[in-house]
This record gives sequence, structure tokens and C-alpha cells, in this order.
Amino acid sequence: MPESLPLLSPDTLRSWKGMSYTKVVVEVASLFIPPQLIPRDDLEVLVGEALSGFCVPEVVRIARLKGGLSILELFHGDTLAFKDLAMTCTVRFLNYFLQKREPQGTSGDTGGSAIQSAKGLPGLDVVVVYPRGRITPVQEKHMISCLKDNVHVFAADGSSDNIDQPLRRLFADQELVKSHGLMSLNSVNWSRVMIQLAHFIYAYLELSGVKQDDVGAALPELEVVVPTGGAGNIAVLRGKASPQQPVTNQAVL
Ligand SMILES: *Cc1c(COP(=O)(O)O)cnc(C)c1O
Ligand SMILES: *[C@@H]1O[C@H](CO)[C@@H](O)[C@H](O)[C@H]1NC(C)=O
Repeated sequence: MPESLPLLSPDTLRSWKGMSYTKVVVEVASLFIPPQLIPRDDLEVLVGEALSGFCVPEVVRIARLKGGLSILELFHGDTLAFKDLAMTCTVRFLNYFLQKREPQGTSGDTGGSAIQSAKGLPGLDVVVVYPRGRITPVQEKHMISCLKDNVHVFAADGSSDNIDQPLRRLFADQELVKSHGLMSLNSVNWSRVMIQLAHFIYAYLELSGVKQDDVGAALPELEVVVPTGGAGNIAVLRGKASPQQPVTNQAVL
């Protein structure tokens, strides 16, 4: 988790108008990742590589419907889950930081996306624990049919919340975490939320009618509807962020 939340000024936001999705991801990530941690050039390479495997060149695509309604298509990654967007980046960051670690995945779409993103990367072992009988057959087959040596998939009884508990105990043991280089790739990983902020900002830039040269003007509003289960993917900014209240679970810019 970041210790403080960066503020994005309206003029900076405006200056991003017209950027590609990949460029927006780099800008958003660099609000949180200081260059001492990942230098800007490296960040561009990592994000560029992470987002290069999507099946449309623009990575995410906007479908314009009637009546000013648009759909932001987040499903052009390998596993069709929107999670591919953040997972591919997070796994690249992981690989960048460390040689040896064992991240944990989670239920449903997350495990598959984690496996897909990590299976080609050396020095990374992925351990996925999924709730038996509580994910779809496609999700299950996707995970258990991956025969890479660095992918280890386990079924467990109980809900994903039940499964979280022993995992949480593992992660509470700092000694164990250090000695095994354990990392978590599931929704507790801030890096995923951070990258997922970029969807909203990109959609805002493309669809709100914000103009680059309206310097000093009020920002137009955009209404965003997010189909979601756990709502873990909608940590977002507010138009008038205040240091006390910059992140909410409301998808509003
Ligand atoms: C998808 C997602 C969840 C829900 O995770 P599942 O493993 O699919 O249940 C929670 N938080 C975030 C940030 C997510 O992206
Ligand atoms: C989240 O992922 C990053 C890599 O992007 C990693 O450095 C970090 O340790 C992970 N966080 C947790 C809690 O495992």
C-alpha cells in the first residue's frame, strides 16, 4: 500500500488527453512507483512488454453504442478476464524485483490470469489455491491443464474467504515470507489495484470530452457503471481529491 496518495491535478490529467492506454498505465504507475524503485525507462519497457500480448493493438477498446453510451472492453487479454491487464504488469514488476519467490493466487479468474502471466517467466513459482467446486469448469480446466514446472495448482475445500485464512497466516509469518520469498498476487496486492486505476482514467480521457487546452477550467464529469462481483476492482479517484478522502469505493471521476 502506498504511504501517501498522489494527487493528480486537473491540468496534468488534461495533458494526458490523447495518450494510448499503455502510456496512461505508465503515467498512473509512475505516480506511485518512484524512479529509485523502477526508473522511468524500465517502467516503460516493463509495461510495454506486459501489455504487448493483447489481441487488439490498443489493448483495451472502446465500443460506442447509441445515446452516448460506451463500453470499455477490458477482455482482450489471454484469459479474457480484465485481470490480465493488471496481472501482466504486476508479474513483470515481480520478475524485475526478485529472482526467487512464490506468489499466491486466488479464486476464479484470478488464478488463471496469474498462471497465464507468470508461466513463461523464469525464477517465479506460482502457487494457486482455488475453491473446489466453486469456480466454473472453464476456469478450473484453464488452471489444472497448465503443465509448466513453475505452476502449482491446488484445490481446497471451502470458499475463497476460507482459503484466505491459512494463506493470511502464512503471510503473517515474516520469517517464512522472507526465507521463501513469498509474494501475493491476489487482490491484496496493491500493484493490481494501482494498474486498474488506469482503466478509469483512460475511459475518462477518451469519453468525458475533457480538452487538453482548457487549462484552468472545471473538469467535465463522466458517469461510470462497473459490473462487478467483489468490487475489489473499483478503487478510484475522486474529481476533487482531498488528502483525507482521496480513495473511495465509488467509481466516479
Ligand atoms: C477480481 C478482483 C477481485 C475478486 O477476485 P476473485 O479471485 O476473482 O474472486 C478482488 N479484488 C481485485 C482487485 C480484483 O481485481
Ligand atoms: C505485490 O506485487 C509486487 C510486484 O508488483 C511485489 O513487489 C509485492 O511484494 C507484492 N505484494 C505482496 C503483498 O505480496
